[in-house]
Amino acid sequence: MAKSSSTFVCNACGNTTSKWSGRCEACGAWNTITEEAPLTSGPAKKTLGGSRGRATPLTDLSSSEAPPPRTSSGLSELDRVLGGGLVPSSAILVGGDPGIGKSTLLLQAAALFARAGLGVIYASGEEASAQVRMRAQRLGLADAPVKLAAETNLRDILTTLEQERPALAIIDSIQTMWADNVESAPGSVSQVRAAAHELTNFAKRRGMAVIMVGHVTKDGQIAGPRVIEHMVDTVLYFEGERGHQFRILRAVKNRFGPADEIGVFEMTGGGLSEVTNPSALFLSERGQPSPGSVVFSGIEGTRPVLCEFQALVAPTPHSQPRRTVVGWDGGRLAMILAVLEARCGIPFAGLDVYLNVAGGMKISEPAADLAVAAALLSAREDVALPPETVVFGEISLSGALRPVSQTELRLKEAQKLGFSSAIAPAGGKTGESGGMTLNQMGDLTAFVGDVFGA
Ligand code: TYD
Ligand code: MG
Repeated sequence: MAKSSSTFVCNACGNTTSKWSGRCEACGAWNTITEEAPLTSGPAKKTLGGSRGRATPLTDLSSSEAPPPRTSSGLSELDRVLGGGLVPSSAILVGGDPGIGKSTLLLQAAALFARAGLGVIYASGEEASAQVRMRAQRLGLADAPVKLAAETNLRDILTTLEQERPALAIIDSIQTMWADNVESAPGSVSQVRAAAHELTNFAKRRGMAVIMVGHVTKDGQIAGPRVIEHMVDTVLYFEGERGHQFRILRAVKNRFGPADEIGVFEMTGGGLSEVTNPSALFLSERGQPSPGSVVFSGIEGTRPVLCEFQALVAPTPHSQPRRTVVGWDGGRLAMILAVLEARCGIPFAGLDVYLNVAGGMKISEPAADLAVAAALLSAREDVALPPETVVFGEISLSGALRPVSQTELRLKEAQKLGFSSAIAPAGGKTGESGGMTLNQMGDLTAFVGDVFGA
């Protein structure tokens, strides 16, 4: 038999090739390709697998085989992101920057689920059991019936899980796990993939839920764990700015609940505490209405969240003006600048543009287009928007304003927080605006004329 040769794997996207190169052909990343042993070794089994692969009609699944109900942690922000609690036998990946608070969150979750009656094992490959215990003490969770395992060998962990049969296993982190049947180093794509595959399979077979932690690399990709996103049921990202105490847990994929749902937490000396009214939090630092500041009424998952866009527009000393965005998409900003120039005759050439979402929030909804345009214009014209006004609406390339979903929910949330008027696209079903003054506009030119008198 020919000796099996190595393969080359991109650590960013998981693409495999037969030869090394400096740049990944699939994702274009530089210096991410490493050599790894092939995933499978040994001859394939020739015998057929008996009756194990038997198919059963959908209608045959009796109600006794229906999965037990979800378990609630009691931490409502966490339960919400999970789609209403922890689903038995589910596999969950929690990604995030190192130091953002993943271990803290999961240790708290472990304790809460244990107190809710689940058997929980917390396997840490990064910290010794004593360290985890110390952290639990600091969080006031030392009395929770959680079992700790400081292990990195996958085989040992699986043996422990087989003996203990917990309802939930937490693996912190998947990059420290090491499967001895794979030759490459821990943290490599093959190791991460093999470990995640075994853990997920084991969990499904044994009716155990598994939560795996995955560190994200500097460029925002989950190295290795990116390639296991498709294996798991739920992918959560833990986001936040180092300087801020707010943390956002976002469901980017969820087979058991709405994707894009967020849970908001605050990092305190005693661990993460939940923020049940994120709108109030994101607007808490807002002072007097000032030019460039616009409040956007957005929807994150199933719930409305208000946040503030801040823009600064200033003459540039450079030949190439700067476009800097934090918390929103840079491409989308370029599009809005182009629409403002082409459809409304408002140029931004020769001007630096800075756009920021306050509070470390990340917005991806197109409904924020109009709020961004309003912030840019307000900064450029040095005119503050009327106070107590929220803005939302999608902008098309023609400059028309498109209605957005959930208008009523957006208005209700704004009113709850003391806003009295909203600028929104014409057309959409508005129904009862319940005390809010609604300024509906058909296109961007009308908006510019109405609000800025240009
Ligand atoms: P950690 O959970 O270790 O991060 P990760 O597992 O994502 O790498 O969090 C580490 C940070 O959290 C550290 O900078 C200290 C801070 N922290 C608090 O502010 N309060 C606390 O109660 C705890 C446990 C950590
Ligand atoms: Mg950690």
